Amino acid sequence: MRILVTGGAGFIGSNFIRHLLATEPSCRVVNLDKLTYAGNLENLADVERDPRYRFVKGSICDATLVDELLKEEFDALMNFAAESHVDRSIQDARAFVETNVLGTQVILEACRRHRIPRMVQVSTDEVYGSLGPSGRFTEESPLRPNSPYAASKAAADLLAAAYFRTYGLPVIVTRSSNNYGPHQFPEKVIPLFITNALVGEPLPLYGDGLYVRDWLHVQDHCEALALILKNGVSGEIYNIGGNCEWANIDVARFILRILGKPDALIAHVKDRLGHDRRYALDTSKLEQALGWSPRIPFETGLTKTVGWYRGHMTWWTRIKEGAYREYYQQTYGDLSHASQ
Ligand code: NAD
Ligand code: TYD
Repeated sequence: MRILVTGGAGFIGSNFIRHLLATEPSCRVVNLDKLTYAGNLENLADVERDPRYRFVKGSICDATLVDELLKEEFDALMNFAAESHVDRSIQDARAFVETNVLGTQVILEACRRHRIPRMVQVSTDEVYGSLGPSGRFTEESPLRPNSPYAASKAAADLLAAAYFRTYGLPVIVTRSSNNYGPHQFPEKVIPLFITNALVGEPLPLYGDGLYVRDWLHVQDHCEALALILKNGVSGEIYNIGGNCEWANIDVARFILRILGKPDALIAHVKDRLGHDRRYALDTSKLEQALGWSPRIPFETGLTKTVGWYRGHMTWWTRIKEGAYREYYQQTYGDLSHASQ
């Protein structure tokens, strides 16, 4: 199987490429990535010499490049490429529209022209918007995105559906809940809290800290995606969730407990604008259709993830001391005065 992965140098894409190479001996993978601030070839250093793997630097918005690449006759394209951080989308939405909407349209169009037999658009539960204390989103739930990030992903989902209906493009949309695991960029809450705790810095907790996310280990997500790639039905949408709801404050406390650090490191900071209260996914469709369910319990997965960050200080210190530092200071300011 020949697969074009877009956005494969980021968190989930790099884990997916590693998973594919480890489980599919005859696969061939090309990774097209723009290497934005979130793209990092170090994430794939262990496979870069694998003859089945090739990296191409470029943007999914570059129609000429994407068209040229797809002349190579791929069996499938998996689109992970995106601007992915909600807080950055609140600061400036433009790149989100460019990559997440226009870039996805470039890919859909090229897949149509080259008759690619399968395309998977990797999307998010955030397209459904926010839940109250009860209920879960199914694939039939209406799209009510709240952040510019979520709105751009919803637009891409709708374009994918339109390409299926209008042109019969064999595209599948997957909507995953929040992922965690190795190689996640330390702007996202779990690696941010782990890496801050490791160096004794405050953990910036938005608002009352009672916002709830449904956590899924990236390895479970990759296994679901590999199954969908092989056996999913074109035109369908699949939720991929961890069935594991945690309030942010409990995640912060758990990380501090693993590291033997005091709760006093939690710093309550100003809330995110338009902050979605709760996400939760009904994943019965995927369970019934393809027999998938998540395998890694959150406590186990989080403890291992803390271990990974502890063992890869060079990886994240380089990131945190590089261009990310300016974003961090602009977003959080001086945390030493934040209320505990
Ligand atoms: P990430 O930010 O870690 O990685 C994104 C990758 O896309 C980076 O390597 C970046 O260089 C690349 N990229 C950005 N713009 C590009 C462009 N124009 N052309 C080519 N490459 C480009 O993101 P992630 O967390 O790995 O998320 C991957 C996908 O999964 C995204 O589509 C995201 O919306 C979706 N998703 C993420 C989560 C999560 O919890 N992280 C949950 C559900 C869905
Ligand atoms: P995040 O990792 O940005 O994922 P998403 O917004 O896509 O769900 O945030 C997860 C949760 O953690 C969300 O409720 C916002 C909260 N959060 C904080 O409390 N502090 C932070 O510094 C960040 C980045 C997030």
